[in-house]
Amino acid sequence: MSHPLSRRDFLASTSAASLASLMIGATPAQPPGPGKPMAVSSANGIPAVTRAVELMQTGLDPLDAAIAGVAIVEADPKDHSVGYGGLPNEDGVVELDAAVMHGPTHGAGAVASLRNILHPAAVARLVMKRTRHCLLVGDGALRFAKTHGFPEVDLLTEEARKIWLRWRETRSNIDDWIPAPEGEVEPAVLEAMKTRITGTIHCSALDTHGNLGCVTTTSGLSYKIPGRVGDSPIFGAGLYLDNTVASAGSTGVGEVNLVNCSSYLIVENVRKGMALKDAMIDALKRVVATTTRNPRFRDEQGKPTFRVNFYGLTKTGDYAGVCLITPAKFAVHDGTSAKLVDCEVLTV
Ligand code: GLY
Repeated sequence: MSHPLSRRDFLASTSAASLASLMIGATPAQPPGPGKPMAVSSANGIPAVTRAVELMQTGLDPLDAAIAGVAIVEADPKDHSVGYGGLPNEDGVVELDAAVMHGPTHGAGAVASLRNILHPAAVARLVMKRTRHCLLVGDGALRFAKTHGFPEVDLLTEEARKIWLRWRETRSNIDDWIPAPEGEVEPAVLEAMKTRITGTIHCSALDTHGNLGCVTTTSGLSYKIPGRVGDSPIFGAGLYLDNTVASAGSTGVGEVNLVNCSSYLIVENVRKGMALKDAMIDALKRVVATTTRNPRFRDEQGKPTFRVNFYGLTKTGDYAGVCLITPAKFAVHDGTSAKLVDCEVLTV
């Protein structure tokens, strides 16, 4: 049994074994078609859409391009919502969820509660391509990844550990932890304590042949109960596509998408003739309506306590992003350049 790599070894592993593992199961590039490649992502996805479009311009499959795009964010220690540097569960262990869908084959693969693997989305692609299943979890997913040559990596960065420690120390005043005085705590740690991170990255891609691919990858809700799985690895919730219609995905508190099949609803709305943005607003309204019945999703004034955003694009190249109450941006590359665009806000 190999041991997770130390942080000191991390960069070396990234440039060798982890980078190599990223391409396991990718389809060799084909001659590009006549169309303009496009990609959309969450606000942390400018590097992802840029990379994805560059690769689709060389003829890479849209799913492989999207996976390579989000891999930049999976490896980014500064993004505390995804992969390396992601905030851990309540035990201080980083647990990752990821899923992929491939338009041309309607193939799908996912992993959940996966530990010590830098690129969970690439493992999800292998679940799709090298098994007859759609979802592997926990230790089985880790063993599957290692079997295919993915190296084990310690995903908990020093900064993420310090944020987690602060959360642990300040969690209760009836336990035996004594929090460090605020003056002794790094500003980045205090800043991270202001909100509970529910971020993620989604990327939907449209290639030069008009084919769709999508991926959602995350470290999930910060300080989650170990084993908690969000919407990201669940088809129809955290992502969905139909190659004849559209591709969509989500970031935010996954539970509201799990109980509403939100990404599926968006694609089905488009299939029935709605414009993509209207389809997404309709899905947000559904989430608002159904969560009204459940106090766990509401504050004392009855306002939603969760954040949720949707992003996507259609087979014909329309793209949109929407968010609930709190303004947000999303990343888009239209084949010419990458930019951040305001999400349409639904207020309640
Ligand atoms: N949407 C990410 C999560 O809830 O885990």
